[in-house]
Amino acid sequence: MTWKQVFTSSVGKKLVMGLTGISLVLFLIVHAGINACIFADLVNPEENGEMFNKAAHFMGSTVLIRIMEIGLFAGIILHIAQGYLLTLENQKRRSVGYAVTYKDGSKWYSRSMGLLGTLILIFLILHLYHFWVSARFTGKGLEEEITYNGVVMHNMFGLMKATFTEWWIVVVYALGCISLAYHLAHGFQSAFKTLGVHNKRYNIMLISIGYGYSIIIAALFILMPVSFIMGWIG
Ligand code: HEM
Repeated sequence: MTWKQVFTSSVGKKLVMGLTGISLVLFLIVHAGINACIFADLVNPEENGEMFNKAAHFMGSTVLIRIMEIGLFAGIILHIAQGYLLTLENQKRRSVGYAVTYKDGSKWYSRSMGLLGTLILIFLILHLYHFWVSARFTGKGLEEEITYNGVVMHNMFGLMKATFTEWWIVVVYALGCISLAYHLAHGFQSAFKTLGVHNKRYNIMLISIGYGYSIIIAALFILMPVSFIMGWIG
């Protein structure tokens, strides 16, 4: 397969979707893991976000991780662009081939990956504006810095607490994460199948891991804004 075919043929597009999808699956594990440090407050309220602030500072100040961040954004853009092209191709194929919508026994969320991806994109734009743009560019909401053992850093925990004081924001985050759960429920197994991990014996295992992963990641993320607005932490 030539580089041109990787980006233009259906098989090439699916391959790009699978590879970028798996990188995003790995990113979400790291992202959820680091953010879960906020729950140290549940055990020790004196903590006041120290563990999370230190972890976020490490991620933001390590050169290698900043370089990986460029790869992450390239992956997200590629995933979105190829996703829309594949959705358009599928729609065209369906409208030419069938007079009525053809359902091949697949789940509604497998047939709605484009719609779910769009809902996640809307959430992501708001989310990056809240945290990433502030941390990297504007410093909005991060004017008061915090010092641990002589190291000055952003108080990202304080920014989260201030962000999740309005119910509409918490609701948008929860809807974004529910869309993410369904998107991952299909995307996880689909990505592995595209990359050739497709075997009757391992299929059930792959599907179960995919569902488990999707539910745990989405639930963990939803619990974050909910914990702040309910006053369980912060
Ligand atoms: C719902 C709970 C979530 C919270 C509280 C949260 C919090 C954060 C914070 C604080 C940052 C900034 C990190 C920094 O720059 O120091 C960030 C960045 C980011 N988040 Fe989230 N996040 C959540 C869910 C998600 C989800 C579901 C996705 C993907 C669908 C996502 C994708 C990203 C991306 C792409 C970045 C920028 C990457 C980077 O900082 O390197 N987040 N998030």
